[in-house]
Amino acid sequence: MKYDFTTILDRYGKDAIAVDMPTDYLGNYGKVKREEGFDVIPMWVADMNFPVVPSIQKAIIDRVNSPTFGYYAPREEYFNSIIEWQKHFHGIDVRKEEIAYDNGVLGGLISACNVLLSKGDNILLHSPTYVGFTGVLHNNGYNMVHSPLIKKDDTWVMDYEDMEKKIVDNNIKVAVICNPHNPTGRVWTREELEKAMALFEKYGVYVISDEIWADITLNGNKQIPTQSVSEYAREHTVALYAPSKTFNLAGLIGSYHIIYNKWLRERVAKEASLCHYNSMNVLSMHALIGAYGAEGKEWVEELKEVLSGNVNYACDFIRERLPGVSVIKPEGTYMLFIDCEEYCKKNNVSLDDLFYKGWQYGVYWQDGRPFHGEYNIRINLALPLSRVKEAFDRLEKYVF
Ligand SMILES: Cc1ncc(COP(=O)(O)O)c(C=O)c1O
Repeated sequence: MKYDFTTILDRYGKDAIAVDMPTDYLGNYGKVKREEGFDVIPMWVADMNFPVVPSIQKAIIDRVNSPTFGYYAPREEYFNSIIEWQKHFHGIDVRKEEIAYDNGVLGGLISACNVLLSKGDNILLHSPTYVGFTGVLHNNGYNMVHSPLIKKDDTWVMDYEDMEKKIVDNNIKVAVICNPHNPTGRVWTREELEKAMALFEKYGVYVISDEIWADITLNGNKQIPTQSVSEYAREHTVALYAPSKTFNLAGLIGSYHIIYNKWLRERVAKEASLCHYNSMNVLSMHALIGAYGAEGKEWVEELKEVLSGNVNYACDFIRERLPGVSVIKPEGTYMLFIDCEEYCKKNNVSLDDLFYKGWQYGVYWQDGRPFHGEYNIRINLALPLSRVKEAFDRLEKYVF
């Protein structure tokens, strides 16, 4: 490997919620007293424990070295970097005017909802559901209707019949597609997206497609941009992207959306402007430019290889050494969504018991119940493999 995916980073004292302040975010779990001799292995919040690609730091430092930070506008290079990245990784052609900045993907989701829905309206999502969707949609007054994904032939699939029934019964006007899907890690195929889109077209449903994980596909899987599957999809989808998952830049803030339809794009732009907070930080712009270049492309290829190795290791370990625990191997993201139902029932333990025990031994994993997984735990695998191995050894010895 040309880049560093093995150093164990010291993240303490760097304001990282992953290690420094989980109590603020996770309540009681964050208060669990850790056994002596077990350091923290951060496996909950979706950020990575690898150093960023050096071109990002260089771009930021170069800008910081110029001692003026007044008002500014995004430069052409920002848009050109996105256009080139999208073409290279996802094969799509996008023009500058079809791209617009958002402070975050969840903020972009709400701007789009505010254009397409009225408060109290129903919105269709799949479950399990990314907890961030649940939080912002609830807080902004939208009523979530869930269509459960089903487990079939060792994968998660959409239940089109259920989706159709929910669309009709709940007068659905907007659906959220998470592509790749967090927390299951499904990377939807073209056929699956086409079928979903045909259904949305039949009922005139608009789509908000969260593609924040688009670049992180594993073991050769390929992400298909939702907007690319049909003319209807192109004209009726708001696609949300960011460099933040791919390059671990969440702390710098910054994402963007792509909307081809002029009317929709102008309405979302108007809505996004209303809070007056939605403007880019100059360092975030330079970070994106540093990320979306030649070095970033190489780095992401290595990252995907490393994450594929971690996911394969963890899934094999679970199958061979953790009886009663099951997992469907993710095709994208760096998250595992393990199912402990059989283990809990057989051994008469609650998910809480299991969950606390993990934290007690320094495995800071994440409760799957807020994601609609009754017996699930979400595990972040974006760490050096040595840490993943250590975590699973602890789980086998002390937790299961
Ligand atoms: C599917 C999905 N969407 C959105 C986000 C958050 O994006 P942002 O921080 O840009 O709002 C995450 C973070 O984990 C995510 O997994």
